[in-house]
Amino acid sequence: MIFDSSDKRIAVVGDIHGFWTWVDTEYFSKSNYDSVIFTGDLGNNRPGNTNKIAQLISKVRKPKYIILGNHDTTSIPQLLMEIANASPNIGYLSHTFHLLRYKKLLKDLGDSHICQYNLSQVGPRISLLGARTLSMGARFNFQLFIKSVFGISSYEESEKKFHELIQNIDFQKQDLIILAHNGPSGLGDKAHDIWGCDFKSEEGDFGDKDLGNFIRTIANHGKKPKVVIAGHMHHSSRKLRVKTRIWKKKEEGTLYLNPARVPRIFSDKQGNIWHHHVELIRKNGDWTAEAKYLKNGVEEIFPLPEFIEREKNRIEMKD
Ligand SMILES: [Fe+2]
Ligand SMILES: [Fe+2]
Repeated sequence: MIFDSSDKRIAVVGDIHGFWTWVDTEYFSKSNYDSVIFTGDLGNNRPGNTNKIAQLISKVRKPKYIILGNHDTTSIPQLLMEIANASPNIGYLSHTFHLLRYKKLLKDLGDSHICQYNLSQVGPRISLLGARTLSMGARFNFQLFIKSVFGISSYEESEKKFHELIQNIDFQKQDLIILAHNGPSGLGDKAHDIWGCDFKSEEGDFGDKDLGNFIRTIANHGKKPKVVIAGHMHHSSRKLRVKTRIWKKKEEGTLYLNPARVPRIFSDKQGNIWHHHVELIRKNGDWTAEAKYLKNGVEEIFPLPEFIEREKNRIEMKD
């Protein structure tokens, strides 16, 4: 058998929302993962928490790849404006503060690779496309910020930028992974679908159109991404009509992962503390993923509690 040197083992951490401790920093640092990928939304809503989590992430002794979520660098008034679809022009001062928070967060993330409208090498044969940063679905979010940092001001320009970024990839030799905060459109319109809308009675597809159109267009030209990773739509919510969202889906040869198990640190009735992440593996050219749970800081090898087992198996694999 020929040894394929591009075999990889990557840890994927979903939306953090304040749930990260030294247990995680040490576990990932000492693990035999090649790298760690984060879908963003780092802090809880307490002031300074996002930066504290960013500093802890920066101490993970592995290559780290992160996309910022809608809770990273943004203020609560800005989030409310986005939800209300208010005018993007909320003033020069507010934008100036946003840029300052952005600069500070990048500093706190240390040597992490910030994935946003760019391409990173995760290995000799794996390219990682960072999609639209701060996305929260429904519309082209945080226009002022995205325009000033990336010069992009619409879904169309965003999609065009994705095409530009991948134009030099040789898909015969390179695997493409896409990292976004909110996932692509086109993967289902039920509340429990991988990026389905769980907060409206009519449910619907909450995926991003720029990313969805881009993926379908390149796939039609034989340039399928192998893996698409995004969070934002959490695994469960009070309004989610099915208790647990589908977190893994394979469709037309692409593996889609939504690792946003929020909170990712939780306890069971016996008082055990669980830490969630997803293990992503490339072996002999095939990509697979499994949900992983640490129990009281140790990787669990015994049968999992029933509710965790149910979550773990909430998947949709067509081929
Ligand atoms: Fe989010
Ligand atoms: Fe989130």
